[in-house]
Amino acid sequence: MKIRPLGQQGLATSAIGYGAMDTALGNDADYDAASISAIRRAHEAGVTHFDTAELYGWGKSERVLGEALAPIRDDVTIATKFGFTPAFTPNSRLDHVRDVVDNSLRRLGVDTIDVLYQHIHDPAVPIEDIVGLMAEFVDAGKVKYLGLSNTSAENIRKAHAVHPISVVQASYSIFDRQSERQFAVLEDLGIGLIAYRPLARGFLTGAVKPLEGYPAGDFRRNNPWWAPGNFKANLAIADELQVLADKRGVTLSQLSLAWLLARKPYIVPIPGSRNPERVTENSAAAELTLTPGDLAQIEGIAPRGAHV
Ligand SMILES: NC(=O)c1ccc[n+]([C@@H]2O[C@H](COP(=O)([O-])OP(=O)(O)OC[C@H]3O[C@@H](n4cnc5c(N)ncnc54)[C@H](OP(=O)(O)O)[C@@H]3O)[C@@H](O)[C@H]2O)c1
Repeated sequence: MKIRPLGQQGLATSAIGYGAMDTALGNDADYDAASISAIRRAHEAGVTHFDTAELYGWGKSERVLGEALAPIRDDVTIATKFGFTPAFTPNSRLDHVRDVVDNSLRRLGVDTIDVLYQHIHDPAVPIEDIVGLMAEFVDAGKVKYLGLSNTSAENIRKAHAVHPISVVQASYSIFDRQSERQFAVLEDLGIGLIAYRPLARGFLTGAVKPLEGYPAGDFRRNNPWWAPGNFKANLAIADELQVLADKRGVTLSQLSLAWLLARKPYIVPIPGSRNPERVTENSAAAELTLTPGDLAQIEGIAPRGAHV
């Protein structure tokens, strides 16, 4: 697996990472065992970067990821995040964040978190104060590299002035192009981009279903890509991309991930899957190089991303 440097502080990860959010969704031993198999399959396929958060099952995902990676801890980098409440509102109060980080270390079963993110900007706490606290974690050896997620260019600049930020995490896929507006600040400051939801939550995989095909309570119910009026138009985009993928002899997931890798050398997508075969498929996208002709065709098919 190719390695990509992220930021200027020494962080380097496999070109494709692994997103462990869905490992939080089950609550029985079989579900967890399947998650652990998928995570270990990712490592066998060369993935060295694994992403989780306190939010994902309130520690559930961190515990499962920690257990899966325990035998290979030193081969991988683990990222986690603080800053959400159960009501999905921000909470980066400093005393609260201190507790969250200690809990994350304990649940992951590690001495050091490789990448610690603020998960979402909290307007109630100045970003300088938050990054000041995150820098204390670095000094104390609890954290190696700092990241911000779901934030603005202005916050990235303010944060970076307090302590170097190695990575920003944002939604980025052929369907969701908004984070391209942050390329300028990332390049200016030499910060890497972790692309979350790189397969558009499964829309860009060939396995997408209409909303009725997903369980009640699935996040996709509130996602405009699936909304009436948008779904068919977005399916047409996915179908055209599938034709291109077929021509190249790759899967739509691989085409979608390789497109992200081709956008910038400092981008690492973190697809999520609990299916070991899909994990292998997704990881293999790191070896796929799209031609300028492929990239132009993708631009022609989805010049502004999905219909929303
Ligand atoms: N910072 C943030 O605010 C934030 C927000 C959302 C997500 N994230 C991170 O980003 C990671 C990925 O995002 P995501 O899981 O929302 O979206 P995603 O990676 O775009 O898509 C995941 C979905 O696609 C399916 N899938 C994956 N590979 C497939 C393949 N080859 N063929 C068919 N289906 C496939 C998965 O189902 P199966 O498991 O059944 O394969 C799952 O339903 C998360 O795990 C999390 O770590 C961060």
